[in-house]
Amino acid sequence: MFKGRTALITGAARGIGKAIAVKLASEGANIVIFDVFDADTAVDTLNELAAYGVKANYYRCDITDSAAVDANVKAAIEAFGKIDILVNNAGITKDKLMIQMSEAEFDAVINVNLKGTFLMTKTLTRHMMRNRYGRIVNMASIVGITGNEGQANYSASKAGVIALTKTTAKEFASRGITCNAVAPGFIDTGMTAVLSDAAKEAFLSQIPVKRVGTPEDVANAVAFLASEASSYITGEVIKVTGGMGA
Ligand code: NAI
Repeated sequence: MFKGRTALITGAARGIGKAIAVKLASEGANIVIFDVFDADTAVDTLNELAAYGVKANYYRCDITDSAAVDANVKAAIEAFGKIDILVNNAGITKDKLMIQMSEAEFDAVINVNLKGTFLMTKTLTRHMMRNRYGRIVNMASIVGITGNEGQANYSASKAGVIALTKTTAKEFASRGITCNAVAPGFIDTGMTAVLSDAAKEAFLSQIPVKRVGTPEDVANAVAFLASEASSYITGEVIKVTGGMGA
């Protein structure tokens, strides 16, 4: 499905981003990974991608740093020729009840989840406009729709991502670029591994399909939105929640 296409995925050293990279590579896409981990951390991921016979490179890039974003995107385009697909997946949490949340904790989460998505989109859409083709998929969250106790920073950042998705869709629709979001529910990754058993049970009791989601569940939805098959869909948010919040 993705032969001849190159996908840039942020935060793909592990978790959901890694599953997206593997899924797209398994269908023929070349893969560019941006993450803040040392390159050593991504070696296993790169080896896994190489097994599909695609080209894959890792760039250590903090997506909150506009100069680093511009320089690394430039380097990736030089190395790969073009980038067709951008998956804005990198994200962080710093959960606390609002009354205990510091200004720094609020800013840090908004900076990565929302500003980072803006910086990556701004830089890549310039390139995609020249090619008159682009698929942008943003990682939102169900809590960006519902809000969540203890996640004022995170849920606001993801609500922002949804609004940014709709705006990007409108601004670039005439240039062959679509932009959609995926809103996962409770997915089994490093981000959720830190939750207490009680918090995990509370989530599980709200999931109609009675299981937590896997990174692959999310990757399947992203692959559809990143494909040519979704060309008449833009500005949408697909929930991947096992029915939670439906
Ligand atoms: P994760 O913590 O396993 O992976 C996130 C990746 O983003 C890490 O590799 C991290 O190094 C990278 N990253 C963090 N800050 C960065 C920065 N400034 N620049 C570049 N890379 C950076 O988390 P997970 O669970 O795989 O989450 C991926 C996305 O899915 C996030 O946007 C998260 O908010 C979203 N999500 C996750 C859910 C879950 O239940 N795990 C539910 C809903 C949304």
